[in-house]
Amino acid sequence: MTTEGVNVHLTIDREQEGWDGHVGFVPNYVKELNPDVGKTVLVCGPPIMIKFTLAGLKELGFTEEQVYTTMELRMKCGVGKCGRCNIGSKYVCKDGPVFRFDQLDELPNEY
Ligand code: FES
Repeated sequence: MTTEGVNVHLTIDREQEGWDGHVGFVPNYVKELNPDVGKTVLVCGPPIMIKFTLAGLKELGFTEEQVYTTMELRMKCGVGKCGRCNIGSKYVCKDGPVFRFDQLDELPNEY
């Protein structure tokens, strides 16, 4: 699917009745798609999927400066009051929730 210059590729892990799209794990599908390493990548989803997708993107030649992700799963109040979303000195709800991967590398490995 392409929307105004953005390519969206959908996949599911296991076959399901009514789904006629791609079936397979996201990290493997990304490598299969072999995207242009000159592009920017936005990754969202469960943390484990993000971790393996980033590894696959690095194998393809992407740098951490080209990959953005979202950390909203850490958020509770969303307005900087509960303190549940902090990673080091950053509050996901106030400083993010979208971060570039090289920015996340500068934070404690708490995510
Ligand atoms: S979600 Fe509560 S402080 Fe960020």
